[in-house]
Amino acid sequence: MDLGLKDAAAVVVGGGRGMGLASARCLAEDGARVAVVGRTQAVLDEAVETLARCGSPDAVGLVADTTDADAMQRVFDEVGRRWNGELNVLINAVGPDAVGTFEDLTDDQWRAAFDGGVMGMVHCVRSALPLLRNAEWARIVNFSAHSTQRQSVILPAYTAAKAALTSVSKNLSLLLAPDEIMVNVVSPGSIASEALRGWAASVGVDGNDPYALMAAIDEHFGHPAHLPRAGSPDEIGPVVAFLASRRNSYMTGANVNVDGGSDFT
Ligand SMILES: NC(=O)c1ccc[n+]([C@@H]2O[C@H](COP(=O)([O-])OP(=O)(O)OC[C@H]3O[C@@H](n4cnc5c(N)ncnc54)[C@H](OP(=O)(O)O)[C@@H]3O)[C@@H](O)[C@H]2O)c1
Repeated sequence: MDLGLKDAAAVVVGGGRGMGLASARCLAEDGARVAVVGRTQAVLDEAVETLARCGSPDAVGLVADTTDADAMQRVFDEVGRRWNGELNVLINAVGPDAVGTFEDLTDDQWRAAFDGGVMGMVHCVRSALPLLRNAEWARIVNFSAHSTQRQSVILPAYTAAKAALTSVSKNLSLLLAPDEIMVNVVSPGSIASEALRGWAASVGVDGNDPYALMAAIDEHFGHPAHLPRAGSPDEIGPVVAFLASRRNSYMTGANVNVDGGSDFT
């Protein structure tokens, strides 16, 4: 299916690795110009090489921390200069790193969860909006998480931040509907990204074995999917790419679970 992304201008925040990179690769394979944003130059350099190999005509890596509003403004100023003041696709794949029970978490950890999980996305969208509005068509996709729909006692701050992100995304879909800018959320289940494989290693499980990984997730988080294995970033990328594409002409304000099956809606 041609997604209509050829020469589209796209920014994937958190696109250096994991599901952000998998999404960026799908855009690149369809011919989009892709900028990936993250905090580590070396990670971005590697991602840019991958995207160029996949067919992106103008892949670039821009270093910035989403919690720094000024830095994100500079990123989108640069994107505007590069791509004639227009942006078709904004994907926010950054998530906070906040594990701990309600009783363990400090105020600083709660604030960090909301800074990384919500305010980072707010900074990106605010700075990107003039470029998105200038473009002939535009889409936003934000990453939430299935844990907003099924609680785990060790993820209250992460889950609260993701729930807030989902709510703000819904609000944005309403705000931007008159401009026909579609805003959607993807809620992954347990996906064997570098982050989750790192957690698996910390509990003595081989994160490269998707069946062992799902068993460990069931034990520690209580989030088993219907399918007996964890997903891979490559199973998320195509869904995000569709939502982010011109081909998505009538979905907005949706929260799409890509979680291997679950009881929640
Ligand atoms: N993996 C799962 O099972 C799972 C499940 C549900 C939801 N999610 C959500 O899905 C999204 C992608 O997850 P993932 O596991 O694929 O991610 P990941 O492997 O942890 O990658 C996250 C990317 O974001 C960048 N990043 C992190 N903090 C940043 C910041 N403050 N500013 C700029 N860049 C930042 C990282 O690069 P640097 O560190 O170099 O900046 C990295 O490239 C996240 O929002 C996550 O919360 C994941």
